[in-house]
Amino acid sequence: MSHVNDPQPTPWWRHAVVYQVYVRSFADSSGDGIGDLAGITAHLTHVKDLGADAVWLTPFYTSPQHDHGYDVADYRDVDRLFGTLDDADRLIARAHELGLKVVVDLVPNHTSWDHAWFRAALAAEPGSPERARYLFRTGRGEHAELPPNNWQSVFGGPAWTRVGETDQWYLHLFDTSQPDLDWRNPEVNAMFQDVLRFWLDRGADGFRVDVAHGLLKEESLRDQTREAPSIAAAAQHHEEPDRFQVGAHEVDEPMWDQPEVHDVYRTWHPILEEYGAMAVAEAWTRSPAHTAAYVRADELQQTFNFDWLLADWDAAAFRRVITDTIEATRAVGAWPTWVLNNHDVVRSVTRYGGGPTGLARARAAALATLALPGAAYLYQGEELGLPEVDVAPEHRQDPSWFRTGKPGRDGCRVPMPWSGSAPPYAFGPGPGAPWIPQPADWGPLTVERQHGDPSSTLELYRRALRLRREFATDAAGAEVELLDLGPQVLAFRHGALTAVVNCGATEVLLPDGVPLLSSGPLDGHRLRPHTAAWLRG
Ligand code: GLC
Repeated sequence: MSHVNDPQPTPWWRHAVVYQVYVRSFADSSGDGIGDLAGITAHLTHVKDLGADAVWLTPFYTSPQHDHGYDVADYRDVDRLFGTLDDADRLIARAHELGLKVVVDLVPNHTSWDHAWFRAALAAEPGSPERARYLFRTGRGEHAELPPNNWQSVFGGPAWTRVGETDQWYLHLFDTSQPDLDWRNPEVNAMFQDVLRFWLDRGADGFRVDVAHGLLKEESLRDQTREAPSIAAAAQHHEEPDRFQVGAHEVDEPMWDQPEVHDVYRTWHPILEEYGAMAVAEAWTRSPAHTAAYVRADELQQTFNFDWLLADWDAAAFRRVITDTIEATRAVGAWPTWVLNNHDVVRSVTRYGGGPTGLARARAAALATLALPGAAYLYQGEELGLPEVDVAPEHRQDPSWFRTGKPGRDGCRVPMPWSGSAPPYAFGPGPGAPWIPQPADWGPLTVERQHGDPSSTLELYRRALRLRREFATDAAGAEVELLDLGPQVLAFRHGALTAVVNCGATEVLLPDGVPLLSSGPLDGHRLRPHTAAWLRG
């Protein structure tokens, strides 16, 4: 489809590079070892200098932090760990001053068990209006001693917790401390519409919608067909079942991606439009078409393309994802997004094999990502080539670690190394240890060390983002043309840009065109293995 004659002006998010800040791990201004809003504000120039268009902040709201902020006790306030509402206002103002948009995280599937609504629910009787905001049900078995159904938590173990010795249980698709809301109760949507307006009025430019595919459950709450959980939160291993995926591929399950969830986004669309804002869905679904359903014209503006980060280092796999994604988004008249990293998955350097090869491949994959049409989401530290860290068991904090004994997601959440040659690498103002220890060998990876070094990953990203501004335009279109340079090579043309990624083990000859940028040294007009190049023409 052609967007060239699109009468609407280009919305800011269409070609945006959005930089994800994991609030706990970006920069600590207070010296308690945990990142905070004032720390982010002070380091926003890093995002600006990188060339990104927006920052997405993970949840900084009042929370007991059992899932590091994805368990919200008050959607309209800032946790004291991270600062105050004034700090949030200052952050947004500073971002806008720098020309950066601000995307905040919205967690509508569940609240914290510390939320006033859940406390009131526990204090009230079964069948009360207070309990009707959540999913309380009677247990099975003679004495209601068994959970109401066989659903498994994404973090492992049963998705139900019993209320004391009563016959009532409540549903939590994640941790026990994250009770699921009942989105069939209109009070729930009314509350979240107020929350949308609250942050839009404070200047937020958009939302990242957590677990966007989970809000509505099949009304029967029937058993899931697979006894074993389809998802494992432990993101540490390369094999499919151990990857973090909230929802199974190819399987229809009663808790995910129900048709009625789309009605919720249809009610949010006019609010977002009123403010000229956007929302991006975290929706893990069974197919690109199911994912694209979240960006139909009257729903949300973007949806994360997780198939891109689930693809192996394999040209055929990359080609397939590109083709399927573009076809699915074209079918609903939307533009795609591309994601290689976030706070839930093993960092790309490690996913692609680790060590120098993993780093070379991650750099190459980044060039592929940034050459594709639509928006790109980057995760803090990706621009430094940070690897996944094998966090020692005594330092692990992911709730999935406590529920399953699997390593979980701490390894991609290690605090940023800014400068210096030893931990804490200026993460905080003093020598205090950050909440997850940083490796002793990250000295060469700091922002300070990589700045100005043309061979560094930081400078590669900066150059790519600068060049991208010329190519990522409406005129370049939402389509790419795949080029056949052999089975081991991903090659495509997008507008005036040609991108080539060598996933094989031998050099390949680049097509005609002027090389603009490469993720590693070129050998004349030949591209080495684990390397990508951009050419003009
Ligand atoms: C999303 C978040 C993840 C969180 C979960 C529960 O998948 O990305 O970090 O643990 O939702 O809120």
